[in-house]
Amino acid sequence: MKNNYIIPDEWSIIENTFDKQKVTASESIFSIGNGYMGQRANFEEDYSGDSLQGSYIGGIYYPDKTRVGWWKNGYPEYFAKVLNAPNWIGIHIKINGEILDLNTTDVKDFYRELNMKEAWLKRSFTAVLSNGNAVQIESLRLLSMQHKEVGAIRYSIKPLNFSGQIEISPYIDSGIKNQDANYDEYFWKILKVQEVEDEAFILSETLKTGFVVCTGMKNKFSLNGEEVSAEKHVEKLEKSIAFQYKFEVKQGDELTLFKYATYMQSMNYPVEELCQVARNTLQNATKIGFDRLLELQKESWQKIWETADIQIEGDVKAQQGIRFNIFQLNQTYTGEDARLNIGPKGFTGEKYGGSTYWDTEAYCIPFYMATKNKKVAKNLLLYRYHQLDKAIENAEKLGIKNGAALYPMVTMNGEECHNEWEITFEEIHRNGSMVYAIYNYVNYTKDYEYIPQYGMEVILSIARFWVQRANFSNDKNKYVILGVTGPNEYENNVNNNWYTNYLAQWNLNFAVENINYIKKKYPEDFKRIVKKRNLKESEIGQWKTVADQMYLPYTDKLDLFLQQDGFLDKEIIPVSQLPASERPINQKWSWDRILRSCYIKQADVLQGMFFFENHFDDKTLEKHFDFYEPITVHESSLSPCVHSIIASKLDKPDKAYEMYLRTSRLDLDDYNHEVDEGLHITSMAGTWMSIVQGFGGLRNFDYKLSFAPKIPKEWKAYSYKINYRGAILQVYKSQTEAKFTNLSDVSVQIEVFDKTYVLEPQKMVRI
Ligand code: BGC
Repeated sequence: MKNNYIIPDEWSIIENTFDKQKVTASESIFSIGNGYMGQRANFEEDYSGDSLQGSYIGGIYYPDKTRVGWWKNGYPEYFAKVLNAPNWIGIHIKINGEILDLNTTDVKDFYRELNMKEAWLKRSFTAVLSNGNAVQIESLRLLSMQHKEVGAIRYSIKPLNFSGQIEISPYIDSGIKNQDANYDEYFWKILKVQEVEDEAFILSETLKTGFVVCTGMKNKFSLNGEEVSAEKHVEKLEKSIAFQYKFEVKQGDELTLFKYATYMQSMNYPVEELCQVARNTLQNATKIGFDRLLELQKESWQKIWETADIQIEGDVKAQQGIRFNIFQLNQTYTGEDARLNIGPKGFTGEKYGGSTYWDTEAYCIPFYMATKNKKVAKNLLLYRYHQLDKAIENAEKLGIKNGAALYPMVTMNGEECHNEWEITFEEIHRNGSMVYAIYNYVNYTKDYEYIPQYGMEVILSIARFWVQRANFSNDKNKYVILGVTGPNEYENNVNNNWYTNYLAQWNLNFAVENINYIKKKYPEDFKRIVKKRNLKESEIGQWKTVADQMYLPYTDKLDLFLQQDGFLDKEIIPVSQLPASERPINQKWSWDRILRSCYIKQADVLQGMFFFENHFDDKTLEKHFDFYEPITVHESSLSPCVHSIIASKLDKPDKAYEMYLRTSRLDLDDYNHEVDEGLHITSMAGTWMSIVQGFGGLRNFDYKLSFAPKIPKEWKAYSYKINYRGAILQVYKSQTEAKFTNLSDVSVQIEVFDKTYVLEPQKMVRI
């Protein structure tokens, strides 16, 4: 392990030293969220050192100007940024007139804990100010899972060596910026700053996108456990409002502020009602009280963990790692709202714009499908269904017509909002994962109805795209797909990326198969789809023709599918021969050198073989793994999990474990020295897959559920649960046995190492 800063613990993320160099990294790692909003672990009190302030509200973004030197036709108009939302956590503290600022104060006994079981963030420390006053501080913060629009903080101050005055000024502030604002601009327009009795509100609107948010706060105090009140002085500025309270305290007293805050936003309520709803919510939260909110938080998370938890025996760091991943995924997306999705950095940073990528379909769906109910995965699919018309517009911008759809590589609302040409125009493989996700969902849930009701429109519009984007090569006597970038972004404008062509071919066949099936079995839906999407019978024939004659790059010499045409012209030198000082290559090499090299950023051919493992025998899989793994640099966090799963399948336990470690504690141990920018949320789903599909060997092809459980030698045992078509199954694997327990009231058929077992309700099978 590179970094032992985080204390190993099964259920908590803990740090017990105050290191100013690590403040921004810890702000990411200790982030909290509840699917509706998220908050980096910024300090409540003032901090003049380095910090990335970050509060985020799901779905709220800003279409920023893009900085592109050389504009190209077809570029999107803007780059979407997840917006830093008004600050709700802030509390200015003065001790006998001196500001409490951890950057200038002597800090002792610093302790911070993110309790994942109960979903709260705690921080305590002793501060000795330059006036000699020592105070003991403890804060506890949560974003309520049950009352999604509510955040609450309990902040206690104890004077240790003096009696005197403590000034506490909780505030809310809309004068916030994005660190990644191109021109140092503000993105919020303030409409109203208002106080009503002991509550304060700021109504602000995002520029251009016009999202309106009412941020509110309400405060209560206690002294030594008894509720107290104090006169407040209101400091109302143009963009912020603070309530200043002064307390005379004695040495050893404990003064506690309970700060309740809320965001109400215009995606959910009419603008004119926002402040009133915010008021009602704050009053209700105060009535419930901090302790009860904390109890409710524990209850909500207990339910989440009931199915989502993975237990690993004999390796605390691995246990902490996997729980951290599961925890963060649940903090990011809870699945009730089909307008929201999972940004690669979730609510933990600004990078990647907080937008939706193919990561959701390729990596996240299996996690949400198995650990929640099917509605959650369905909402993720519906997100894309609702954006189909925008995907059609997007394809039109690139000259691809007749209702063909190209889903954006990066999006907030269905429009493409990323403008590196090699990504926007060329990384068209993302279209394939939209269809793959539908296939995966239907296979797992057996909810076939989804296809006639919604999925078919997406599938056929994407089939239309492939038919037009491919062209017939007279030379090859095949259809080819030219000028693409595969998942491996370390090569651009290549011809016939195997992954893209294979996926396109599969998409086309899948479209043919399903439209024919729907025609027969769901004639009413068939009629509706044909009419709505103006589908002609002849198109289906075309899909078939292109699929049948799709070119797949291959070399006889090595009997291998090639990453793309001409791949073997490259000098093939294994990554192991690169000096450590030259890695990661994306930080050490010039871009042209990367493009010319054989190094693969992330699973590409192997990504395809992972999706369609049932199409290849083990020998073929192994040959490709042995060729591509040594030249893959895994400089995308999405890569090691795929290699780990394949290595497990191929009985390469050391490789599987090595790759697993790279994904599981990527952020906790800050492998890539970039955790300060935010966590790698979408790759966390890959870590979950590395255990459940990798070591656990779960597969779900042909509507069947099968397992081939293995276990790393480093662990004593592990177990996980899945929700399979409404039945909860528990899988346990130790070094000597595997147990499958059906915790539900319906029987479930599974295969284990190719043998069929029927798991009767509430019964266990030991293997
Ligand atoms: C990867 C993409 C991914 C994106 C967001 C990039 O580094 O290459 O495949 O979609 O990160 O996670």
